[in-house]
Amino acid sequence: MLRINLSRLRKDLEDLGEIGKTAEGGVWRSSLSEADMEARRWYIQRMTEAGLQHWIDAAGNIFARTGEGGPAVLAGSHIDSVPNGGRFDGALGVMAAFECIRTIQEQGVRTRLPIEAVAFTDEEGRFGGFIGSGAVAGTLPPEEVARRRDLRGLPLAEAMRNVGLDPARIPEARRDPKDLRAYVELHIEQGPVLESLGLPIGVVQGIIAGSRTWVTFHGRADHAGTTPMSMRKDALLGAAEFSLRAREMVLSEGSGTSVGTVGVLELKPGASNIVPESAFLTLDLRDISWEVLQRLLERTRSLAHEIAQKWGLEATVERMRVSEPAHMSPHIQAIVDEAARNLGLKTHWMNSGAGHDAQILAKVTEAGMIFVPSRQGRSHSPAEFTEWDQIENGANVLLHTLLRLAEG
Ligand code: HGY
Ligand code: MN
Ligand code: MN
Repeated sequence: MLRINLSRLRKDLEDLGEIGKTAEGGVWRSSLSEADMEARRWYIQRMTEAGLQHWIDAAGNIFARTGEGGPAVLAGSHIDSVPNGGRFDGALGVMAAFECIRTIQEQGVRTRLPIEAVAFTDEEGRFGGFIGSGAVAGTLPPEEVARRRDLRGLPLAEAMRNVGLDPARIPEARRDPKDLRAYVELHIEQGPVLESLGLPIGVVQGIIAGSRTWVTFHGRADHAGTTPMSMRKDALLGAAEFSLRAREMVLSEGSGTSVGTVGVLELKPGASNIVPESAFLTLDLRDISWEVLQRLLERTRSLAHEIAQKWGLEATVERMRVSEPAHMSPHIQAIVDEAARNLGLKTHWMNSGAGHDAQILAKVTEAGMIFVPSRQGRSHSPAEFTEWDQIENGANVLLHTLLRLAEG
């Protein structure tokens, strides 16, 4: 039975992990940053060395391909990372997909349908997320491109132009669904389930609905020493109460799968002797149910304005990005399960609490995901780790899933 070359995949992942490496041993490759561009150049060099047909589309997605005409079977993920993230989130899916098509090509295996490896632009969301996969799925209209910006206010369009991409051409990256057979993504679980069950392979059934809301409380800058407590418009007090009550809202008004996170909090002007004039925060809300998430998002808006009024502040609430939940194709789930069993690997069927490009591709083609265990369930941290034999398992399950789908 065909197998991937683990030592080659391991070297690729270790080398990629050196790009944007942080002092703590993590990686910091925000999309379209210098580190991301260096990783892209490195990846393209690997494709050239492998003699694989490859190209970059108008959204900056990087593709490699083996095989001839017909609807393509896609496999991939992302090489951009969160700040000081782990070396496997996204990178595993991209390099394992690349290793699969490299193996297929060098072993002279002929498939009825072509197989493509893809690295999507901005999965992690410096610019709100799912830019590359949204472009391929045709779900990123020009007005959405124009609205997206990063936390420093840099517009996505400007960041793209800075690296030689033309944001106006993003619609050219859309793939006609009839040119797509399927999309499969290998990813670390980023949670504790597989490790706690002692199982090597996760068959993903569904991916949560996600959202990112930007909330700013507007107060008034005043002298920290001379301004009486009763006269202040302290923006931090709004943000502080909002953060605690958003958590209460998730726990009391959400479902059992609801989660909420304030991951960014920024005070301006930001000096110890100035009452904060503004407090900016991001709220990441998720739930497997679209209806529950929509309700929590509405509550978020009213909560922010109620708290602002209490502290004599104003509040602005912007929905930066909302992504619908996605069901993975039952057909692909069955193929993943069979591929794992044929390799002697037990499986666990589960949902994903993390968002993935697969939930965007699921809008236009059959999509599936394969999980491998994360040590202590850690991710989005330098502590992220998966054992190399577990990576080999996942990559071989991906290989045989792709071969089966490419039979047409
Ligand atoms: O945030 C997420 O769930 C993913 O890592 N982009
Ligand atoms: Mn991630
Ligand atoms: Mn990821």
